[in-house]
Amino acid sequence: MGKCALYYFSATGNSLAVALSLAEKLPNTEPISLPGSMILDDPYAAARDADQVGFVFPVHRATMPEMVRGFIEQMPIRPDCYYFAVSTYTVFGCNEFWDIDEILSASGAELNYAASVKMAGSVGLQDQNSPKVQQTLTMVDEQLTEIADQIGNRQENYFRRSFKLLGKMVRIYTDNRRKNIAFTINEKCTRCGVCAQVCPAQNIILDEEGGFAPIRSDKCQACLACIHWCPANALGTNINIHSHYHHPDIKPEQLNPIVLKPNARAEEKTS
Ligand SMILES: Cc1cc2nc3c(=O)[nH]c(=O)nc-3n(C[C@H](O)[C@H](O)[C@H](O)COP(=O)(O)O)c2cc1C
Repeated sequence: MGKCALYYFSATGNSLAVALSLAEKLPNTEPISLPGSMILDDPYAAARDADQVGFVFPVHRATMPEMVRGFIEQMPIRPDCYYFAVSTYTVFGCNEFWDIDEILSASGAELNYAASVKMAGSVGLQDQNSPKVQQTLTMVDEQLTEIADQIGNRQENYFRRSFKLLGKMVRIYTDNRRKNIAFTINEKCTRCGVCAQVCPAQNIILDEEGGFAPIRSDKCQACLACIHWCPANALGTNINIHSHYHHPDIKPEQLNPIVLKPNARAEEKTS
């Protein structure tokens, strides 16, 4: 298998855990933070150099997160490249593969392989400490062995099936909630900065005293990473969250390694 660029987007760590596991099982595979790549001068350097390009991301409102869509839309597409996508979800996936395939097809390529992995997570009403979480994650590992095997053999499995209308209805139903998302912060905040570290959109800055100050802009993915990772449970939102969850094997500093270094651009230019 030639080089594989594996881009991941992850809020609570599920998709990152999947990407890391696939990268371990597949030869020549580099897991790359998608939000981290977006702030580089050449976000697509790894993809340009690869024979396989993969995307791992959570299902957001029945499709891929907006940031993932934007990234793929701007990507230089090569018809001879093998493209695959693995989505993670808690209830059901829906339009994400159809949507990616549509973007790739416009440039003469296609989504060659797609797989969905059901994870533990807050949306699925599973509590971080529930035994069901461990059980679910053990099953995931077995599934990923099979998925890696199929990708390694460049299998084709995507047949353009989708529930387009259902996905559209989910998005209409949730659109207002996403647009009107508002954050709250209480006195439990220790000013540790984890919220800013895990935000894939770099939408959070800390005020002079290191306090939480979300910038509300269109960049917010409503992924709720800031809330799920807050070690003090100091953050809240007007969106109902059933329980706090993050993947047990992932640490917050692993999520967006390039975003973590605000000077990455400057460092790149001087090195
Ligand atoms: C804004 C938002 C929308 C979501 N929409 C769906 C959905 O439509 N279907 C579903 O099964 N899970 C949905 N989820 C749950 C995530 O897809 C799931 O928890 C995923 O594994 C999280 O991956 P991550 O930790 O890599 O971000 C949603 C989560 C968020 C934050």
